[in-house]
Amino acid sequence: KAPLRIGIAGLGTVGAGVVKLLAEHGRLLSLRGGRSLKVVAVSARSKAKKRDIDVSGVRWERDPLALATAPDIDVVVELIGGSSGVARRLVQTALRSGKHVVTANKALLAMHGTELATLAEKRGSILAFEAAVAGGIPIIKALREGLVGNRVRRLYGILNGTCNYILTTMRETGRDFGAVLAEAQAAGYAEADPSFDVDGIDAAHKLAVLTGAAFGAKVNFAGVHVEGIRRVSAMDIQFAEELGFRIKLLGLARETRYGIEQRVHPCMVPLSAPIAHIEGVFNAVVVEGDFVGTTMFQGRGAGQGPTASAVVADLVDVARGRQMPAFVVPAERLADKKVSPMDRH
Ligand code: NDP
Ligand code: HSE
Repeated sequence: KAPLRIGIAGLGTVGAGVVKLLAEHGRLLSLRGGRSLKVVAVSARSKAKKRDIDVSGVRWERDPLALATAPDIDVVVELIGGSSGVARRLVQTALRSGKHVVTANKALLAMHGTELATLAEKRGSILAFEAAVAGGIPIIKALREGLVGNRVRRLYGILNGTCNYILTTMRETGRDFGAVLAEAQAAGYAEADPSFDVDGIDAAHKLAVLTGAAFGAKVNFAGVHVEGIRRVSAMDIQFAEELGFRIKLLGLARETRYGIEQRVHPCMVPLSAPIAHIEGVFNAVVVEGDFVGTTMFQGRGAGQGPTASAVVADLVDVARGRQMPAFVVPAERLADKKVSPMDRH
């Protein structure tokens, strides 16, 4: 079978991880995908930048948009980030050109997910985004496949690795926020603008995408109540411990008679709850389905290896030709369920 020809836009933490994983597991992946996965072109801002990957035999495109229309590319992997600008144009153009798209960009999906999924389905292309939510945890696959027989009643989870890392380290060391954030940035966990992490916006992006996948609803980022962790002090964390609680930034979505309530904020989680013990860069997602009951998924929520693992899982799906709706049901049939949580409190 002909190789799957891949164009990668963005060679930062995640892009470099994808190049490394494809190089290291090339043979294994061609067996699993039924054809080889070949990177034919890459693009990033600076060609001169030193990177710890070998892309010497691969075409360099100065303009990432060139990947979207290149006749020798089957799938565009968007790893630039941002909900507008080049990332959005790249994904739109690639889908319009009939290419498949794999992206880790939750900001883009939270703002334009329904529109992009509709476009993909009209063109018969795959839009895949396992890496966009909870890093290496295959939660989108779980919702779309293993749990597809259920009506989801409620889901909640730790959706931002940077915040969980900060809260864990503050508890363990008594240090305050700023210094710990710098460590999370150095480890490659944080967003380009880390206020997206600490202000809860990144978790809200992911929650909006998860809600779409779990409830078959239009992605509605504007409907998420968002509060971050800036005001949580080391002392708050100590007091919570003394009372038998751990402070976690949670994202929660549940079906109500008004629509779907979505919220992100710091929560006092009792130490008896398993999710209280998810520490460091780990994420966890708890899904309550009507037939399955409660399921919990955990794993590393950010960083090069886990995120590359999720991107490559999507590439193998594309290689296998697995055509699935991006959000459980075809995007045109996504329900318009909204609720404004603060109106009800
Ligand atoms: P980085 O900042 O490390 O990398 C971004 C890459 O995009 C860089 O290679 C950069 O080029 C390139 N780039 C930026 N602007 C442009 C442009 N205008 N044209 C061409 N290339 C451009 O980001 P990450 O790898 O951390 O994140 C990428 C995506 O993955 C984001 O959407 C992020 O939210 C998401 N994500 C990240 C995770 C993580 O743990 N880091 C986890 C899950 C998702 P150059 O290298 O030359 O500067
Ligand atoms: N900045 C994000 C986080 C990356 O810390 O969770 C993973 O999406």
